[in-house]
Amino acid sequence: MKIARNLFTVFVLSLFLISCKNESDNYTDPRGTDYAGSESCIQCHQKQHETSILSAHYKATLPGTKENILGHFTNGKNTFVYDQNTKLVMEERNDSLYQVLYKNEKEVKAHPFDVLFGFKHAQTSGYWKNHSFYELPISYYKSINNWATSPDYSATKANFSKKIQKECFSCHSSNIASDYVTTNSSEAYNYMGMEVHNFMNKNTLVYGIDCERCHGPAKEHVRAHLKFPDLKKAQNMVSFRNMNRQQRIDACALCHSGNDKIKLKSRFQFKPGESLSDYFQENRRPKDTLNYDVHGNQLGLLSQSKCFQKSQTMDCITCHNPHQDAPQKSISYSKICMSCHQSTQHKAATLKTISKSGLANNCLECHMPTQNSKVIRFQQSNSSAVNSYSLRTHKIAIYPAAKN
Ligand code: HEC
Ligand code: HEC
Ligand code: HEC
Ligand code: HEC
Ligand code: HEC
Ligand code: HEC
Ligand code: HEC
Repeated sequence: MKIARNLFTVFVLSLFLISCKNESDNYTDPRGTDYAGSESCIQCHQKQHETSILSAHYKATLPGTKENILGHFTNGKNTFVYDQNTKLVMEERNDSLYQVLYKNEKEVKAHPFDVLFGFKHAQTSGYWKNHSFYELPISYYKSINNWATSPDYSATKANFSKKIQKECFSCHSSNIASDYVTTNSSEAYNYMGMEVHNFMNKNTLVYGIDCERCHGPAKEHVRAHLKFPDLKKAQNMVSFRNMNRQQRIDACALCHSGNDKIKLKSRFQFKPGESLSDYFQENRRPKDTLNYDVHGNQLGLLSQSKCFQKSQTMDCITCHNPHQDAPQKSISYSKICMSCHQSTQHKAATLKTISKSGLANNCLECHMPTQNSKVIRFQQSNSSAVNSYSLRTHKIAIYPAAKN
């Protein structure tokens, strides 16, 4: 009798558990059943979530809606002129936004802003067509607060046919699956005798760099903590605290060490704690490394700094909060510099060029100066001048310009 009652209790309890489980299982993540989705983290990690959703990481790719597009759609600020007869206009039509090409005032082409890439300094966009993604010829740049040619695009001819590969999504989004099309579609092309389908399934796109892109699949973690709310120690979750320096660096370097190495596995497969050497093989001659660009290779540059080489601890998180955008104020970094450099004595000649407080607040101006990218350049409408995209270098050093 007692056994039967106990069995009954177990039965009722398990029914209860199943219904709870189903409740949290409603969401299916395109990455698979190991993933819980960022929304599910809010209930327990509100602090991290609040700042993350506003960060450039979260917005590294976004749907092409009016709220998300940084550039202007109003008269006078929405036109790029290619020549006397040809212009491209940013237009809003029935809730969707388009780049429309006109020749002698007649519409020739119109393609929508489907997905936006980038948020902090610039935004490039593209549109879907038959399993492929194509870049739009005009991008927005914050430095000029205006539209200009997409990087590497002509200022005299509009090109709508350049494909954006999965590679771009592997650094700017949390997921996109391949689409395997078995029909002899005209889009499948031959590559050294093999058929290659660089097709993507747009329904599997997870926009931006979300919690699980950096922390790995967390469904089991969520399940455990929902079930046992009193647990204080994280379950089924890789901890950055227990990682060694190289592992911590690799988790960022996945996307911040350039794109010129030989790939052994897809970036999407990487989980924190793994080693990047299983994903990439060095492909550079030592000579190439002297000229890392300021765009895209923060680790390469930082590795050339004495700070990085001679300290045992410096990694990306020394200066960056992974859940928040980098503060742009120089002074907040100066404090970090001084945590290792309390007793730096500058020479009298250097001290003469700047006040004492100026020196203390502006380490970056002299030791991490802003530099022009050699790979990202753009042209404005009706102008032959070539503008550069500029970023702070991560090579912390003594620069000639500072040696007055
Ligand atoms: C039901 C509550 C709950 C949910 C939902 C939850 N977590 Fe946690 N998480 C915890 C608790 C409790 C800890 C341990 C205490 C702490 O570090 O905050 C933790 C710790 C962590 C840690 C730190 C691990 C460490 O030891 O350094 C990470 C990272 C983390 N969670 C990620 C996530 C992500 C990503 C999600 C969403 C997919 C998520 N959590 C959802 C409860 C939850
Ligand atoms: C999956 C790829 C990926 C990973 C992993 C990644 N990043 Fe990023 N990160 C990006 C991309 C893409 C951008 C550009 C976002 C934009 O402006 O649209 C970016 C932007 C940034 C920025 C500039 C935006 C800002 O905060 O002001 C910083 C700083 C940064 N990342 C640091 C890190 C650190 C530190 C880590 C490791 C903890 C890391 N990233 C891991 C892809 C990644
Ligand atoms: C290896 C990873 C990687 C790949 C591949 C990559 N990006 Fe980026 N991208 C970044 C990082 C990191 C940043 C931000 C920091 C920087 O400029 O170094 C960035 C910045 C940008 C920005 C400017 C965003 C901003 O506000 O700073 C745009 C636009 C952009 N990428 C578009 C693209 C497109 C389009 C492709 C494919 C043709 C692509 N990216 C491929 C990592 C990558
Ligand atoms: C760009 C990569 C990145 C993203 C995106 C990211 N995290 Fe983290 N997270 C980290 C790193 C790196 C650490 C370790 C920080 C440290 O050791 O100082 C961390 C630490 C944590 C911790 C431990 C407590 C703390 O704040 O240090 C929790 C909890 C956490 N993350 C939850 C989340 C949640 C929830 C999201 C999404 C809203 C998220 N993370 C998005 C990289 C990331
Ligand atoms: C984690 C500790 C640490 C931090 C943080 C740090 N450094 Fe350093 N830095 C070092 C070490 C160690 C050296 C090498 C000293 C030596 O050679 O004796 C160094 C060297 C330097 C040098 C000499 C470079 C050369 O080529 O001769 C400069 C300049 C410098 N740091 C500036 C900075 C600035 C500016 C910051 C902040 C943006 C900073 N450091 C942050 C540890 C650090
Ligand atoms: C010594 C401090 C320091 C370290 C260590 C450091 N950064 Fe930065 N990082 C900065 C500063 C300063 C900026 C410029 C912030 C600004 O002006 O908005 C910056 C900006 C960035 C940006 C945005 C580019 C831009 O100008 O908007 C990215 C991306 C970035 N860091 C990634 C990384 C990665 C990845 C690592 C590790 C390989 C790393 N950082 C290590 C200090 C540091
Ligand atoms: C006006 C430009 C300027 C500013 C601001 C500045 N430095 Fe320097 N720094 C230099 C120059 C030039 C040198 C090399 C000549 C010298 O030592 O004065 C140098 C040298 C150094 C060295 C190497 C000293 C050695 O003995 O090898 C370190 C470390 C350093 N600076 C750290 C810092 C830190 C930390 C800050 C911010 C608190 C800072 N600097 C602010 C220009 C500057």
